[in-house]
Amino acid sequence: MTGPSSGSLNIVVGVTGGIAAYKVVSVLRTLVLSGHDVHVVATDAALRFVGKPTLEAISRNVVNTDLYEGVSQVRHVAIGQAADLILVAPATANTIAKLAAGIADDLLGNTLLASRAPVLIAPAMHTEMWHNPATVANVALLRSRGVRFIGPISGQLTGDDSGPGRLAEPDDIVAAVLALIEVTSAERAAAAAVPVADAVPAAAAQDLAGRRVLVTAGGTREALDPVRFLGNRSSGRQGVAIAEAAHVRGAAVTLIGANLEVPVASGITVISVVSATELASAVSAAAPHADLIVMAAAVADYRPETIADRKIKKDTAGDRLTLNLVKNPDILMALGQNRGQNQLIVGFAAETEADDDALVQLARGKIRRKGCDLLVVNRVGWSTGFSTVDNAVLVINPAGDIVMEAAGSKLSLAHRILDLTV
Ligand code: C5P
Repeated sequence: MTGPSSGSLNIVVGVTGGIAAYKVVSVLRTLVLSGHDVHVVATDAALRFVGKPTLEAISRNVVNTDLYEGVSQVRHVAIGQAADLILVAPATANTIAKLAAGIADDLLGNTLLASRAPVLIAPAMHTEMWHNPATVANVALLRSRGVRFIGPISGQLTGDDSGPGRLAEPDDIVAAVLALIEVTSAERAAAAAVPVADAVPAAAAQDLAGRRVLVTAGGTREALDPVRFLGNRSSGRQGVAIAEAAHVRGAAVTLIGANLEVPVASGITVISVVSATELASAVSAAAPHADLIVMAAAVADYRPETIADRKIKKDTAGDRLTLNLVKNPDILMALGQNRGQNQLIVGFAAETEADDDALVQLARGKIRRKGCDLLVVNRVGWSTGFSTVDNAVLVINPAGDIVMEAAGSKLSLAHRILDLTV
């Protein structure tokens, strides 16, 4: 394997048999145009959805599918060994299961098993398959081994149904690949710096070494029935960036992720939750062990009073459906009221207020009510704040002063926010 510090990387893209395979063509194209050497390993099922000539023309390389081709070049292991990074997109439930079990009955399975490269998986499947306990367990197992995931997102699926299971948007997959390249390059640079006595890794100052950091990220989902939920558009990007920045700076990081749509770097302990109630329990269990708590998750303020055990049907509900909602616990406020010794608590406020002064007034009221040490305020709207790569924030202290105002990538803002806590 060659180090990914050079501009052009050897990226292997495993394409498996889902209808979303056609979308991966644009991922290949962008990676090639970004200067990378892209090698597609397609399963037989993938080629039923997208033609080999298309994949070869766009990737500008021969597409490998057959385990028994190129045997003299030991291709079943050579492709994986040469890879700097492996992306599997779309990844079916079947491929995820095989990868979790280490099954290598095709070229892609062999490639993955024979590689030490970081792996990013972009799942695509029907919601029932994504929620199936087998898939949930396989994903958790792979995550625990350091495999990263991007998506799936919620949206229209192949049939009339919609829900979680849709392939992440091609641009987001490319962004996740590029982010993973950045993370692994930084990890390698840090590792390379270690042998020199007293060397401080070049990648980041270790100013959070010894600190235990708890971060919440993502958006909670409040179930209405077995297939529907009330949710929000938070992808978890900003919270994940904070967790990764803290990790790179030497902290022991626990990330409580609510329905994250972005991959998480290895070395961070990830606890996955779905609803606000689950988030509240996970936070109350983890908070006593944290010196710094960053509550970046977008938590639903209300949840349905009852969850229907069967799908709510319009023929029985009629023309008008009334939902009764009950208030969720305010986790941040509870943390502020039961603060541990020397514990620092950072809250977030996502507001749609357009006027700057009114936004600051809102934030001042909120930090007083919530009792946190810093409040990071960002404006959100139909196209701002959530899911975007960049962000703009201001940070307020309990006296109501603006202690920081900054814009930039979510990772750069993560570092700026952490700077205020050291
Ligand atoms: O009140 P608002 O939802 O604007 O507050 C946002 C902050 O409070 C975020 O840090 C969020 O994580 C946290 N929050 C919470 N529990 C809730 C609602 C929000 O901890 N039920």
